[in-house]
Amino acid sequence: MNQNPDNNYSAPAKSSVLVCQHLTCRKQGAAKVLAAFRQLKTPNVIYEGCGCLGNCGNGPMVFILPARIWYYLVQPHDVPKVAAAVINSMNTILHITQRHEWEQAKNLGTYRSNTLDSEGFIHCSTPIQLLGSANRFFKNQTDLVILKIDVDRVTPEIRYEGIDANNLFPHIYGELNIDAVSDSIDLESHPDGSFVLPDELGN
Ligand code: FES
Repeated sequence: MNQNPDNNYSAPAKSSVLVCQHLTCRKQGAAKVLAAFRQLKTPNVIYEGCGCLGNCGNGPMVFILPARIWYYLVQPHDVPKVAAAVINSMNTILHITQRHEWEQAKNLGTYRSNTLDSEGFIHCSTPIQLLGSANRFFKNQTDLVILKIDVDRVTPEIRYEGIDANNLFPHIYGELNIDAVSDSIDLESHPDGSFVLPDELGN
């Protein structure tokens, strides 16, 4: 099984897992793959058969929405791993901040970024969006950490917003309760100042 994340990732309130059921994928066992997904009955995830996904030579093909992640050559034994990745993408959002700001937040018991005052919310990214956000807004900055945030534990409202409906970003509308932060991960950079996706967030 291979995976290819597409950069146009959007709101993960619910997910659909599309399993191609067209001719070539069916010959390669797509019906059994779809049946294996449907046995899982995962909350907030819909498993559906669909028409040709345009990559018939690498079937069975699976496409995850709204994450827009492709899986190739999927077999029934791959299904639990794919489903776990889907659930992880729905439950985790990420926020980049300076290390000293996170240390300060831990002492205070609550985290707020300066955008909470200026824009009314704390900017976050989904795992697929993270590198793009880092390179766009934090290039050449050092001593940064990524806060890994468990969506289910965040007290303020989270809205998925943006100009492009296919690429919505999670925004936290209030101070972040720090017990929603499950981990803080160092954000390392290349010599040219661009960032490296930490192994802990590798897809
Ligand atoms: S038949 Fe499945 S991708 Fe074309």
